[in-house]
Amino acid sequence: MHSNWRDCRAWYDEKLPMNTNSNEASKFYDICLSQLAGYYENHQFGGIVGSLTKMTSADPNFILGQCLKSGIELLGTNATLTSDTYQKSIQDLVAKSEALADQLTLREKLHVRAIQHLAKGDLPESVTVWEDILIDHPTDMMAVRMSAGVYFYLGDSIQMRDSIARILPKWNQRVPLFNYLYGYYAFGLTQTKELEKAGKHAKMGIEMNRQDGWACHAIAHVNEYASSPDKGIEFLLSTQKDWNYCDFIRGHNYWHLCLFYLEKQEYGNVLDILDNNEAFLDPKMSIDMINVSSLLSRLKLDGFNDKEYLRKKFDDLKKKFGDRIDQHGYMYSDFHMALIYSMVGSEQEKEMYTKSMEEFIGNESVGHFIRNLNDKLGRKIVKALFDYGEKNFDKSVDLLYPIRYELKKIGGSNAQRDIFNLILIDSCMRSKFEKHNRMGAGLLFERLAQRDSSPLTNRIADRFFVHDFYNNF
Ligand SMILES: [Fe+2]
Repeated sequence: MHSNWRDCRAWYDEKLPMNTNSNEASKFYDICLSQLAGYYENHQFGGIVGSLTKMTSADPNFILGQCLKSGIELLGTNATLTSDTYQKSIQDLVAKSEALADQLTLREKLHVRAIQHLAKGDLPESVTVWEDILIDHPTDMMAVRMSAGVYFYLGDSIQMRDSIARILPKWNQRVPLFNYLYGYYAFGLTQTKELEKAGKHAKMGIEMNRQDGWACHAIAHVNEYASSPDKGIEFLLSTQKDWNYCDFIRGHNYWHLCLFYLEKQEYGNVLDILDNNEAFLDPKMSIDMINVSSLLSRLKLDGFNDKEYLRKKFDDLKKKFGDRIDQHGYMYSDFHMALIYSMVGSEQEKEMYTKSMEEFIGNESVGHFIRNLNDKLGRKIVKALFDYGEKNFDKSVDLLYPIRYELKKIGGSNAQRDIFNLILIDSCMRSKFEKHNRMGAGLLFERLAQRDSSPLTNRIADRFFVHDFYNNF
């Protein structure tokens, strides 16, 4: 694990100079970057928030440090997109960088530009700038990690994979944080379904650092897409003590463990995690909300019959994240909020959610890209989820079926977006229209072709007697 924190000279020697003369600020930049790269909190320095504060206090004019702080905040929550206070802090960063322009390298100026785009929700523009930096500075970990994060939000799996492939040969064991590139590359490969290669690279990352929670996560994805729940459970349980170290991916790895248990219909193990694991019992981060919302929905879709249990869990989640009802932006996060309201939201709450989404779409202070995505896809998804919750299955089909191949654009992983496939199949089969039923049968066959050894898929097929059903048409 990297801990020989780099001072001003060390960054300069790596051809990554920064506009600070403070060795303390330089070292804290490294400490913050390491936590971002490795998905963990360094509690010795107050975690990521504490170390960001120490870094900016050590040198308030440290531009790249400010960019890193903003980047972490912008990727962490979409509340920043419409917050006047937050947008003002970005304007201050830009003004400061202009005032210090003669001290800054082109690389530092480009980082500021990328942050400006990200703060508007213009994700493609921001990642274009970070990729530009990587052409001349392939070992700039902030550009690497921010690009990977943005590609994830864009659902750009090919770009996510290739972005790492382009720079990997330029790194070596002597460059700190080198090991994490293998996990990033492996995850990109899982999203393009290159599972064997993905597993190989993830294992290389883990061999260099057992506590690489993201590389472990990539192996969970390999087993998820290969429909190998037994292998997935065995791997996650045998490495649990290692990835448990990673505060920012730990809860999500437990979510993957739950998906494997769900495949095998081992509800007891799923409930044990839901009822006892901190990230599920007391969710705090957006990713926690996404994990819980998705898992409860999957239990419901699989026919788990304790409706009161699910209702109570959904209600708890709604209370916990209720103050975010008017926050919109990154859609893969937003639709998990909409999922909560579709399951246990009142009419008034659903109206509030829809109204605030419309206001977001019309808010011209936010960038065009993210508003356009919400306009073209977000509206339909939210309406479809609300229709599903109200048992208007035919309406849900009419909205979701035509856009099913576009859903990648909302971001997240194939495993996370699979909830849409499950909802669409369920809606098709429960719709009053026979044509929808036939469409559902087709979607199930499509799923069986991709996951022929998935017990969950076979359970859905059995529940709807799809084979007999399909033969009758
Ligand atoms: Fe995942």
